[in-house]
Amino acid sequence: STKAVILVGGPSRGTRFRPLSLDVPKPLFDVAGHPILWHCLRAVAKVPNIKEVILVGYYDESVFRDFIKDSARELPQIRMQYLREYQALGTAGGLYHFRDVILKGNPNRFFVLNADVCCSFPLTEMLHLFEEKDAEAVILGTRVGNDAASNFGCIVSDAHTKRVLHYVEKPESHISNLINCGVYLFSTETIFPSIKSAIKRRSDRPRMVSYPSSENLDNSFFAEKLEDGEKNEVLRLEQDILSDLADSKQFYVLETKDFWRQIKTAGSAIPANALYLQKAFQSQSEELAPPSANIIPPVFIDRSAEVDPTAKLGPNVSIGPRVVIGPGVRVKEAIVLEDSEIKHDACVLYSIIGWNSRVGAWARVEGTPTPVGSHTTSIIKNGVKVQSITILGKDCGVGDEVRVQNCVCLPNKELKRDVTNEVIM
Ligand code: GDD
Ligand code: GTP
Repeated sequence: STKAVILVGGPSRGTRFRPLSLDVPKPLFDVAGHPILWHCLRAVAKVPNIKEVILVGYYDESVFRDFIKDSARELPQIRMQYLREYQALGTAGGLYHFRDVILKGNPNRFFVLNADVCCSFPLTEMLHLFEEKDAEAVILGTRVGNDAASNFGCIVSDAHTKRVLHYVEKPESHISNLINCGVYLFSTETIFPSIKSAIKRRSDRPRMVSYPSSENLDNSFFAEKLEDGEKNEVLRLEQDILSDLADSKQFYVLETKDFWRQIKTAGSAIPANALYLQKAFQSQSEELAPPSANIIPPVFIDRSAEVDPTAKLGPNVSIGPRVVIGPGVRVKEAIVLEDSEIKHDACVLYSIIGWNSRVGAWARVEGTPTPVGSHTTSIIKNGVKVQSITILGKDCGVGDEVRVQNCVCLPNKELKRDVTNEVIM
């Protein structure tokens, strides 16, 4: 059988997702009408024989409780649980720490997904490659531009056999434009021993141990500290494990031609929203608003939202619960989060409107489109790096006729005059 582990990270990460992560943990942020994590889970649920999904992270226990309840109702065939790391253990450290739970029921392999990617998750194809090659590990790869590649894990593979020959995490110089999508399939028999030998290699190396403060320095505490010293160190799949797999194991890459995007900055929720909406549109999802003179698909409108029929929405727009959109409004390439209001004749383009915010009449809130296929959400304007997507945090207000352009606005701000290329704190 097969399981899936989704690495959800924790609150200290996701700083680049501010100001949106101030109010919701990044994996639960809504794109295309559903939490980022929901899209991963949907893909996992489509793989035959997966009955168990394990979320691993270091958020508080309560964070995923409602999500897990809702998912159990929607996908009753999947058992899901959240396992909390006592501290950030790294992408491999968490897997190793919870290996007993992962190994329970003797699955011979399991998927690992980074929660912060937007992707079609071709998991079944990965499974086929795994079986065809009798692989020990399969990684999902995608091609990006040469200048973007060094921000990711880079894979050198044999074009013919698809075998991974080298793996280097965020290399200093260019080695390949085939990059790690953050989606893996591992044989249980291979991955845990590989992590174990990485731990051993590391503890054989001399290293500095940071001791607790003197009052704690009684012997028993000290002994315990040394014993699980190895556990206390962060272990990363990317730096500590994958290049070894490439050297010695049956490690293969499935190259996807389908969409893939990382969700790091708050602004990257806009391309992710567009990609998931387009995917829903292609599969004729009934969730989307039906096209009409004023609805340019794909558009998602929550059932509780009130949209004036003269407002023109789309493409790539998500409207959250209880949002009110007035007459003559134009919204395109945008996410409008719950309880927000957009007054008549306002215009919202390439922007995210935070929860419970208000955009005044005839106001303009706008960002700048980023080139298709570029993996960045910042642009250079007048020699300065600014966010291409305009983001209003929770409880913000934009006055009537005010223009907000390429700005990031922290929660609880009132914008009374025009602003451009600023972070409003
Ligand atoms: N449970 C847990 N514990 N999860 C973690 C931890 C941890 O200590 N650290 C990171 N994660 C989760 C993050 O939430 C994210 O989903 C994923 O693991 C990877 O995060 P990072 O470690 O920040 O790496 P990255 O996103 O910069 O790069 C990774 O993903 C790229 C694709 O998006 C690497 O795998 C790259 O090689 C890859 O190209
Ligand atoms: P359409 O023919 O309506 O599709 O217009 P278009 O092809 O020019 O593009 P789009 O609708 O995306 O709008 C282009 C620009 O016109 C936007 O940047 C908006 O500033 C402005 N705009 C369009 N429609 C409206 C509207 O109904 N209200 C407001 N306030 N601005 C609008």
